[in-house]
Amino acid sequence: MLSGKRILLGVTGSIAAYKSAALVRLLVKAGAEVKVVMTPAAREFITPLTLSTLSKNPVLLDLVKEDSGQWTNHVELGLWADAFVIAPASANTLAKMANGLCDNLLLATYLSARGRVFFAPAMDLDMLKHESTQANIKKLISFGNELIDPADGELASGLSGHGRMAEPEEIITRLESFFSEHQLLKGKKALVTAGPTHEAIDPVRFIGNNSSGKMGFAIAEELARQGAEVNLVCGPTHLHTAEPNIKITNVISADEMHRAALLYFPQADMAVLSAAVADFKPAQKADQKIKKTDAGLTIELIKNPDIAADLGKIKKKGQYIVGFALETENELANAQKKLQAKNFDLIVLNSLNDPGAGFGHDTNQVSLISSTRPVKKLSLRSKKEIAIEIVKALTELHA
Ligand code: CTP
Repeated sequence: MLSGKRILLGVTGSIAAYKSAALVRLLVKAGAEVKVVMTPAAREFITPLTLSTLSKNPVLLDLVKEDSGQWTNHVELGLWADAFVIAPASANTLAKMANGLCDNLLLATYLSARGRVFFAPAMDLDMLKHESTQANIKKLISFGNELIDPADGELASGLSGHGRMAEPEEIITRLESFFSEHQLLKGKKALVTAGPTHEAIDPVRFIGNNSSGKMGFAIAEELARQGAEVNLVCGPTHLHTAEPNIKITNVISADEMHRAALLYFPQADMAVLSAAVADFKPAQKADQKIKKTDAGLTIELIKNPDIAADLGKIKKKGQYIVGFALETENELANAQKKLQAKNFDLIVLNSLNDPGAGFGHDTNQVSLISSTRPVKKLSLRSKKEIAIEIVKALTELHA
């Protein structure tokens, strides 16, 4: 359940910070991607080196990186995390969170977090019992944050009572049940096409394009993270995925992609067609390597099947298709025309006019267009973030 989930762990100044190391280990073992943000006080209790080594990511410490004049983008971090787990949460940090204070990176990230926030208090029993701490906890719950209740037992002060941070295993169980309840596409089936197609000219040459498949893989992974079973039909790429809910069918040509898509679409609840399918193929593939001649070479091209249009024709009620458009002029009008013509429910308009967008880049600039909702123009973002937005828009169509 935690495989591929992005967990941000916030560590604050409490003796229970030593348990964060075990928590990071368990999260990583469960397949989660883990980043750690620490308050200055937390560094008195556990070193960033321990947590960066275990999480396999640099630990995030300061709003402004020393000497570089650069800031750590807490907004991006807040967007990145599927869940923000603050464990241990000290009385001081709870008080600041409850009142919107923002004097360190952890607090700034908390205020920017879009995913669910969990907090696991750890403190002495009297501090926990105090009216002000209890009021802060109540306030945090009323904001939609989830309390991971402290346990009874021996405390660092030598006293015994309520206040010990929940054990890492219990925190993992809470996260697992949260993610299993909140998968938006549990039980759904999805078809995704991705990558380029190669249209053979002879045994060693082909007509292809520069599509990397990154956008399609990011979409397939996000669909799977939301609980869908994904058939990813993929042209030639070097990409891999470890996501267990994705079954990859590798194809080379548009004809092969067409056959595979027609095979999987009838059982699918949704299809996202991100492949850059070659519109044309050589009328004939030469059996032997074509020899050069002085006369030059003319290759006759014929049309490939239009996978998207064919799926659009057989689409049934309850099935949804997301297509892509790459336009260089009259972008919006052309994309809207394509939405109608291919019977898409949503079209992702790629704009090649923006730097950092399109083939091969890790970022993209797109607009989401449907016939029922206003156009949503997204700023330049990572393909992962765009995949999240596309899947979110798709689940809204389903609702
Ligand atoms: N598509 C497809 N099969 C094809 C061609 C395109 O499934 N043979 C899908 C793509 O995966 C994408 C959408 O259709 O989702 C793009 O439509 P298309 O008309 O090819 O757009 P452009 O490539 O922008 O083509 P045009 O030159 O017609 O504007």
